[in-house]
Amino acid sequence: MAPRLVFILLVPVFIITKTCNGASSPKFPALLIFGDSTVDTGNNNYINTVFRGNHQPYGQDFPGRVATGRFSNGKLVPDFLASMLELKESVPPFLDPTLSDDELRSGVSFASAGSGYDDLTTVASGVIPVSKQTGYLKMYVERLERIVGEEEARRIVNGALVTVSAGTNDFIFNFYDVPTRRLQFNVSGYQDFLLNRLQSFVKELYNLGCRIMAISGLPPVGCLPSPNDCKI
Ligand SMILES: *[C@@H]1O[C@H](CO)[C@@H](O)[C@H](O)[C@H]1NC(C)=O
Repeated sequence: MAPRLVFILLVPVFIITKTCNGASSPKFPALLIFGDSTVDTGNNNYINTVFRGNHQPYGQDFPGRVATGRFSNGKLVPDFLASMLELKESVPPFLDPTLSDDELRSGVSFASAGSGYDDLTTVASGVIPVSKQTGYLKMYVERLERIVGEEEARRIVNGALVTVSAGTNDFIFNFYDVPTRRLQFNVSGYQDFLLNRLQSFVKELYNLGCRIMAISGLPPVGCLPSPNDCKI
């Protein structure tokens, strides 16, 4: 599943970097990341939830072998993107209270493991739904404005590469494992519902100044651990 996701995410970025050849400075001033565990670099460590990756065996191949909260043995796609774009070696979670101004300026992740486009997905787990992640983007922009001024903050957000990766949890938690939404929709109906949610989310990102966005599709969902299967 991971390599497929990398492929989906990297293809648009490759196209973008190809078309802007020129200066060797970073093509994007910042990375802004939204979504679920595929791109959460540790936000869930700072909220009240059991969905946390800050313990073994997570992080065993991460630099320093630390379990950072990433649901991965090592780095996640946003980290690889950040180093590919020569921004930094890893992307910090926005909720980290020790986040420095420099880190803030070059981009953060607002993602939350277990999240989805449907607000019902996060009701039981208490993680941050994608729809609420724009609230944190507002806080990000306010802090950025205080650091670099309004004009520069606008330039950074306009030029940032925004990536969004979510959707599998919606199907797992609301359709297949716990069939709440199945009472209401068939598969294509629920797909349309989620796409409408995604459309509103993208509009909101646009209204907050985001202009360059890469939205990942859904990989095939196989056997994944979920509260139902693990009896958390
Ligand atoms: C799904 O439901 C819609 C109406 O809610 C219907 O038009 C459509 O044919 C259904 N699709 C399938 C595959 O049953």
